Amino acid sequence: MEQQENGKIAVTQEEAPAIRRSKRQTCMRHCKKFWWLHLLIFICVTVLVVCLIIFVGVKNIAQSKINDAQLQVQSIVVTNTQSNQYTMKIDSTITTDGSQHATIDAFDGVMYLEDKPGHVPFATVHFPQTDSSAFQVVNVTQETPVTDMQAFTDFNTWLLANETLRVTVEGQTSIHVRGISHAYGVTFKKTITMPGLQSFNGTTVTDTKISITPQDDGNNFRGMANIPNRSIVTFEIGNATFFNYLNGEDIGTVYINNILLKPGVNSFPMVANITQLPVLQAIRKQPACQTGILDFQLRGKDVVNHGQHLTYYSDALASVNQTVPIDIKTPLEAIPIPVSCSSS
Ligand SMILES: *[C@@H]1O[C@H](CO)[C@@H](O)[C@H](O)[C@H]1NC(C)=O
Ligand SMILES: *[C@@H]1O[C@H](CO)[C@@H](O)[C@H](O)[C@H]1NC(C)=O
Ligand SMILES: *[C@@H]1O[C@H](CO)[C@@H](O)[C@H](O)[C@H]1NC(C)=O
Ligand SMILES: *[C@@H]1O[C@H](CO)[C@@H](O)[C@H](O)[C@H]1NC(C)=O
Ligand SMILES: *[C@@H]1O[C@H](CO)[C@@H](O)[C@H](O)[C@H]1NC(C)=O
Ligand SMILES: *[C@@H]1O[C@H](CO)[C@@H](O)[C@H](O)[C@H]1NC(C)=O
Ligand SMILES: *[C@@H]1O[C@H](CO)[C@@H](O)[C@H](O)[C@H]1NC(C)=O
Repeated sequence: MEQQENGKIAVTQEEAPAIRRSKRQTCMRHCKKFWWLHLLIFICVTVLVVCLIIFVGVKNIAQSKINDAQLQVQSIVVTNTQSNQYTMKIDSTITTDGSQHATIDAFDGVMYLEDKPGHVPFATVHFPQTDSSAFQVVNVTQETPVTDMQAFTDFNTWLLANETLRVTVEGQTSIHVRGISHAYGVTFKKTITMPGLQSFNGTTVTDTKISITPQDDGNNFRGMANIPNRSIVTFEIGNATFFNYLNGEDIGTVYINNILLKPGVNSFPMVANITQLPVLQAIRKQPACQTGILDFQLRGKDVVNHGQHLTYYSDALASVNQTVPIDIKTPLEAIPIPVSCSSS
């Protein structure tokens, strides 16, 4: 049995090289006959791999160039404000290293608050076509519909309340690299940090006048409101009214008309219809009777511009109480109503 088995094995072992040899021969014959096919396949695969490397490589380079570019916003001007739309002008610059010769297609970019979860866009900006030169001015003026009232109100609220806020511009576009006909899809996403209005902290009221009986317009207080704008925004607000609080008590309404808020200190005439008794009582208490100054709180009530209610401003203005110290002693003594410290 063993012998037989060995023999069988031997036979098998003898046969094997013959088969391999014949296979190799077949292969070589095949290769000789079809060498062109193999060469073609080799070339095709090589071209494909090289193309893929170039395609993915250029796409990645294009995307990383877009990522490295810097977007700076110099100013945002919002005018012609209506209930559901406004004109927005954004002056910006895009800075790149300028090394790639490429063109970036025009695209629509959405804007949203980076630090508010949900990232709901409050505006869509149409960016024009740009090229990759090192420094580009990109000024956009467009009619902008309010597509999401809550998101636009939130933006105004954050802008009003915060010291700084982060706004992201994001959109899909294509980049054309010189010498390559293919357009590469890229994502344009930039987050800018802009200064906020800090609740108009630092607002003062000067040139105050008080009348005991209301004037023809029904108001008994007037002055100049000096409102600081620490941000880069210009807003056409229109006619705004404010609640006026003294020691937590609602004592009347403040009116400021035709507000066009610009960067820097903005001075507007203001009038107010105020219940006088709480003011006359408070000014006789320490320390107001000596300093002459009372702290009032102003909170947004309504904003109307050429007959249209602008809730995206009024709701934002209603979200904060801004303390405004006002010299009351001087206009009272001008009437004249002497101010002295009450004994109680
Ligand atoms: C673009 O905006 C900047 C900054 O506000 C301004 O200096 C420049 O003149 C504007 N350019 C154009 C073409 O509007
Ligand atoms: C900005 O202001 C809003 C409204 O007051 C507030 O909820 C938010 O936390 C502030 N965000 C930052 C980043 O300061
Ligand atoms: C307002 O500004 C004053 C000084 O300019 C500062 O002391 C105060 O903390 C600020 N208040 C708020 C609410 O930012
Ligand atoms: C001023 O307030 C008084 C009392 O609340 C009110 O009768 C009057 O209509 C107000 N005038 C104006 C102009 O709001
Ligand atoms: C905005 O107003 C503040 C306070 O008045 C001022 O310091 C700042 O320079 C103004 N910003 C611009 C861009 O003018
Ligand atoms: C503003 O102050 C008034 C009076 O103290 C108060 O009733 C109101 O809730 C405050 N509003 C906000 C938003 O702080
Ligand atoms: C503000 O109100 C005054 C008086 O009612 C009006 O004459 C003026 O046109 C209003 N301004 C705006 C911008 O709506």
